[in-house]
Amino acid sequence: MSTVLTGITTTGSPHLGNYVGAIKPAIQRSTDPAYKSYFFLADFHALIKCWEPERVAQSTKEIAATWMALGLDTDKAVFYRQSDIPEIPELTWLLTCMAAKGLMNRSHAYKAQVAENTEQGSDDPDKGITMGLYSYPVLMAADILMFNATEVPVGKDQTQHLEMARDIGARFNHHFGEHFVMPKTVVDEKVAVLPGLDGRKMSKSYNNTIPLWLPEKKLRKHIMKIKTNSLEPGEPKDPNDSFVFDIFKAFASEQQINEMKVEFANGIAWGTAKQHLFEMINTELQVAREKYNELMNNPDIIEQELNKGAAKAREYATPFLAELKAAVGIRPIS
Ligand code: TRP
Repeated sequence: MSTVLTGITTTGSPHLGNYVGAIKPAIQRSTDPAYKSYFFLADFHALIKCWEPERVAQSTKEIAATWMALGLDTDKAVFYRQSDIPEIPELTWLLTCMAAKGLMNRSHAYKAQVAENTEQGSDDPDKGITMGLYSYPVLMAADILMFNATEVPVGKDQTQHLEMARDIGARFNHHFGEHFVMPKTVVDEKVAVLPGLDGRKMSKSYNNTIPLWLPEKKLRKHIMKIKTNSLEPGEPKDPNDSFVFDIFKAFASEQQINEMKVEFANGIAWGTAKQHLFEMINTELQVAREKYNELMNNPDIIEQELNKGAAKAREYATPFLAELKAAVGIRPIS
């Protein structure tokens, strides 16, 4: 049986890019009986880059409600908050003692910050860099190895962290016996990377997102803001050169895609194309949006669900951590 695991850092509000690129495929895969799924809210990871308590708390609530509203079956998938599993920071320490400092020096996230400091002419290359940022890959390795995940679906930017998780896990195995399986990185090329309003990858950091749970009118307004070229109604348009079409593709069926291609060739007006796009996205999200709003108004239900998930996660984590501690020599006196 394969174990799929992935985490989402709780620093922002879910947007259409997260939905298409991560949440929707993960929920779909979790219905496959060949997989055991672990999905979690990476709230310890949030602290690495966000020191706004209200934002972390609100984001955790929104992301949890999102997965639930979109129909994640929490009886099948284990859905939990990282910080509810005390075994994870404990394992982080065991792994920290296995992680080569030289390996961490090569981490992209850390190197990017050093490069920025150097560029800005600072005499301290480590300016503003916390140990949280520096050892971020070790915490992530603990998330993954804690549940012996076999497959980890992530964005391309995370592949180095997965390599590090394998490196650290292998070193532990080498010294203390075979405890961890090596997790595989799954970067699904079929899953769409959605462009944002300006055409760059939809991302919080570019400020070009379409939030997932906008009320209908606002959703329409956002979609109308997607950048297009200046071709007039009646002029043929190239679907391969249109952000509207790129986003449309991520939601439409094969047949709808073909129909839209014909409309592009016939010179559909941008406003009309956007209206079609709005209707398609709105139809897909309508029911879930009501559920989402209901959950946001009933936070106890979310909290209960997360508590249930934490208990399930710990059924695995508690005995496994005891085994790992015993392996390194931390055990009852005998
Ligand atoms: N670092 C990941 C990101 O920023 C989130 C994450 C934390 C994660 N722990 C994980 C993803 C474990 C996969 C597995 O996207």
